[in-house]
Amino acid sequence: MNIEELKSTLEKIKKSFKNQKKDGDDKESWNDLRVKYLGRKSKIKELFGLIGEFDPEERKKVGKMINDHKDYIEKEIALLKNKIEKEEEKIKYDITLPPRKRDIGKEHPITSIFELSKEIFSKMGFDIKTGPEIEEEWYNFDALNIPESHPARDEQDTFYINEEKKVLRTHTSPVQIRTMLEEKPPLAMIAPGKVYRSDTIDASHSPVFHQIEGLLIDENVKFSDLKGVLYKYLSELFNDNSIKLRFYNNYFPFTEPSAEMHMNCIFCKGEGCKVCKNSGWIELLGCGMVDPNVFKAVDIDPEKYTGFAFGVGVERLALLKYNIPDMRYFYENDLRMLNLM
Ligand code: PHE
Repeated sequence: MNIEELKSTLEKIKKSFKNQKKDGDDKESWNDLRVKYLGRKSKIKELFGLIGEFDPEERKKVGKMINDHKDYIEKEIALLKNKIEKEEEKIKYDITLPPRKRDIGKEHPITSIFELSKEIFSKMGFDIKTGPEIEEEWYNFDALNIPESHPARDEQDTFYINEEKKVLRTHTSPVQIRTMLEEKPPLAMIAPGKVYRSDTIDASHSPVFHQIEGLLIDENVKFSDLKGVLYKYLSELFNDNSIKLRFYNNYFPFTEPSAEMHMNCIFCKGEGCKVCKNSGWIELLGCGMVDPNVFKAVDIDPEKYTGFAFGVGVERLALLKYNIPDMRYFYENDLRMLNLM
């Protein structure tokens, strides 16, 4: 073979490569080209083997010619490969396809009531307080005027942690005590949180549930202040200025006088329905004026200060606000429950 023949052989290879490249546009066509034009059995490999047949002074030039040719084909194949892969990418991410629908989480109704309540009470100047869920008996009972012998200790179905004289708090009221020990009146606070009682689970009971405690202390605080604050809170929470509240005589060791507060049923507007068991009213919370014995336990002068306190069941509020028929739904994390909101 001489240089002229080599030249025309290379031209031929180039032409055939170009032709084949045109019709090859499927996924693997670049690899077919690579095998055929650069692989072990390719014409080029063969030509490299022939360099030795040329005159020694021509070999350098011949080598360069074949190499240039090889570079050309390598570059073309790389470009083709790139182009094919880009097209595949486009198919993978077809931006014209409609999006897939996803299930999106929502705030839990209990969290929503907490957040809304914090907002409403903050506007009225109340601080937000927290306390431990594993509480010392003294805060949960004694300081709240519930001594060891008091029947109310048994009434609350307490989870005891006996060795340490600790309990799972049965209400959020111990946060009242913690706050009064930390701060001097005048003070106003709410304490949202979990509470525990060894109840059997049913539509309206759970061994763990949620409360919001409220406490306000100043000189000359009256029961009517309690009514005003509760009315403001509930009318904002339910977004309804026509709610009606009534206060029934009750007993709590830490308030005197004590009351349970009922709100007119927002479902039937007081006419009577399943939710309110045809009474037209729903019991929402316990409340009253802080008992002087509680003030004494935390070293606040009961002659100078008076205050009110309340503890509201958050599940009850959420049931009403979001029309959720069964308390168990709150703890089962079923997305259909969240969609009721
Ligand atoms: N701690 C009471 C309960 O859990 C509620 C309450 C709080 C009553 C504050 C009066 C004052 O039932």
